[in-house]
Amino acid sequence: MSAHPSRAAGDAPVLSVRDLRIEFPLGVVVDGSSFDIARGQTMGLVGESGSGKSMTSLAIMGLLPKEATTTGSVRFHGDELLHRSDASMRRTRGDQIAMIFQDPLSSLNPYYTVGFQIAEAYRAHKGGTKAAAMRKAAEAMDRVRIPDAAGRVGHYPHQFSGGMRQRVMIAMALVCEPDLIIADEPTTALDVTVQAQILDLLADVQEMTQAAMLFITHDLAVVSQISDHVTVMRFGRTVEQGTAEQIFSNPDNDYTKALLAATPRLDDVVDLPEPILTKGGK
Ligand SMILES: Nc1ncnc2c1ncn2[C@@H]1O[C@H](COP(=O)(O)OP(=O)(O)O)[C@@H](O)[C@H]1O
Ligand SMILES: [Mg+2]
Repeated sequence: MSAHPSRAAGDAPVLSVRDLRIEFPLGVVVDGSSFDIARGQTMGLVGESGSGKSMTSLAIMGLLPKEATTTGSVRFHGDELLHRSDASMRRTRGDQIAMIFQDPLSSLNPYYTVGFQIAEAYRAHKGGTKAAAMRKAAEAMDRVRIPDAAGRVGHYPHQFSGGMRQRVMIAMALVCEPDLIIADEPTTALDVTVQAQILDLLADVQEMTQAAMLFITHDLAVVSQISDHVTVMRFGRTVEQGTAEQIFSNPDNDYTKALLAATPRLDDVVDLPEPILTKGGK
């Protein structure tokens, strides 16, 4: 593989992570992670709780706690992101790199309308008038298929359902047209039907924008729906990596096999005639 990605080359990865290692005073939480994500592609990062998925995403965005030390390399369009200044990372975050988290309520301010918050996210990076930014917000909400987007820009976060709030977060992530979307367990808090709708939406959004996406989940059923490539993590280490097809049809690693054996397919769950308790379900 080429070792010198450039902005001009069409097939250069948008994100290139090499030998990423994250250490806290109490121990190493990510030990040698490497992967690339190309334009329009989704990397699914999967593993049990505590395996180092969120720490990986925080390292990419420059949001790790101060006591963490990192080595290795995280290149975005060829530019190193590790050890950059807070000011420089703030400019990149939200503009070229967007984030979607599990809990939209903790990311949204309850005292401002969702339209205002999306508009301000836009203006912080792109400037322009408040009125123009509000139009961008309504457009973004319409793109994520929030009904009556033009009217609902004036509503507050608590006036939306959980699924609609996650659509608001996706609209906010999209409004600056980022090249990279990092979604950390974006559907984990949602019930399974809404989860499937949000996954469909994310896939459409990506088709539309051709952004690269890092999709983090503990749930292999979810990752199977959305990923082109998959990285399986355990205890901070990468145990298996490949195309989604390889991983799901012919896993190599015993841990991946065990995860797969314990995973109901999302469509199976949706087809169940009645709710039943599943082993290991949360
Ligand atoms: N501030 C911290 N100091 C030390 N270890 C931490 C800190 N925050 C998280 N960890 C540890 O890092 C490991 C990876 O956490 P995380 O990336 O959040 O896991 P995941 O997202 O896969 O569930 C966990 O074992 C967690 O206990
Ligand atoms: Mg996590």
